[in-house]
Amino acid sequence: MATMRAVLPGPDGLAVGEVDRPEPGPVEVLVRVHAASVNPTDVKTVENGRRMDGGAATTPGYDVSGVVEAVGAGVRLYRPGDEVFGMIRFPHPGRAFADYVTAPPRHLALKPAGVDHVHAAALPLVSLTAWQALVDIASVQPGQRVLIHAAAGGVGHVAVQLAKELGAHVIGTASAAKHDFLRSLGADELIDYTATDFADVLEGLDVVVDTMGGDYGERSLSVLRDGGVLVNLLPPASPDLVDKAAARAIPAGFMLVEPDHADMRTIARLAGSGKLRAETDTVLPLEEAQKAHDRVATGRARGKVVLTTV
Ligand SMILES: NC(=O)c1ccc[n+]([C@@H]2O[C@H](COP(=O)([O-])OP(=O)(O)OC[C@H]3O[C@@H](n4cnc5c(N)ncnc54)[C@H](OP(=O)(O)O)[C@@H]3O)[C@@H](O)[C@H]2O)c1
Repeated sequence: MATMRAVLPGPDGLAVGEVDRPEPGPVEVLVRVHAASVNPTDVKTVENGRRMDGGAATTPGYDVSGVVEAVGAGVRLYRPGDEVFGMIRFPHPGRAFADYVTAPPRHLALKPAGVDHVHAAALPLVSLTAWQALVDIASVQPGQRVLIHAAAGGVGHVAVQLAKELGAHVIGTASAAKHDFLRSLGADELIDYTATDFADVLEGLDVVVDTMGGDYGERSLSVLRDGGVLVNLLPPASPDLVDKAAARAIPAGFMLVEPDHADMRTIARLAGSGKLRAETDTVLPLEEAQKAHDRVATGRARGKVVLTTV
């Protein structure tokens, strides 16, 4: 059987090992990975040794960009040679930090020709998250005031662009050194969270996207208007937050991103037309997966950390 390189968790951290190359099953494609990006969920899974679906940690990686190598029975969406990108199988193991990965075709979309593999691999999980938060949950309308926490991070920097695309007035929290970057992405107002508590200076907002959790939940609720929307990307720290929010007609439940073909095609269209772009904080070869995880674990990345395989 053919083998390939894959990142494997071990006692001394992540390392590249030689494993069997997977075969595409029915309604699966085999992708030759060119680039794969790291998300905090990869880091948490490896650190906890447990997956979100309860299984043991394995080869991490959900976000991929590459070339279709082979297709399984029944696949009509792609042919060998097609360039694709997507978020594979989340929250079950994606195993994208490898030379090859299998994927359900509808977890992918055709990669826009003008976006290289590194920048395409940076987009899927964070863009799906931001799109599903802003469109499906918050139904953001033109002119609405939207606050995005950790605006310079992976989710934040695409959420800023997508909220602007939806016509919102976008407010972000970020340290001052990242404000110029966020202005270049279209942010209208920025709050340096190291100097100012956003809860002291904001009120009456329509939507808050909370990427921070902890006491950010209560404080985010305090800056929303009655009937606004709080999107929690982490489970609320306080058990009564959702009830408290409901008393003010504010939906505030925890949201988990889902693979979605239509959303991926929207992301491909926006990226292809230059309306959505990923910022890369760090690009490293697959062998440096541990260093890439360490960078994400700092919580200081500006945009995304990407691994390359070719
Ligand atoms: N529920 C879901 O489906 C879902 C999906 C995606 C992500 N998430 C979660 O959302 C969180 C964010 O993900 P991510 O990929 O965006 O993380 P990330 O890229 O690691 O975020 C890094 C950014 O956070 C900023 N930051 C750190 N502390 C901050 C604070 N107190 N206020 C404002 N900004 C701050 C940093 O900017 P400074 O250097 O300026 O501090 C940095 O730019 C993670 O916990 C992740 O697991 C959940």
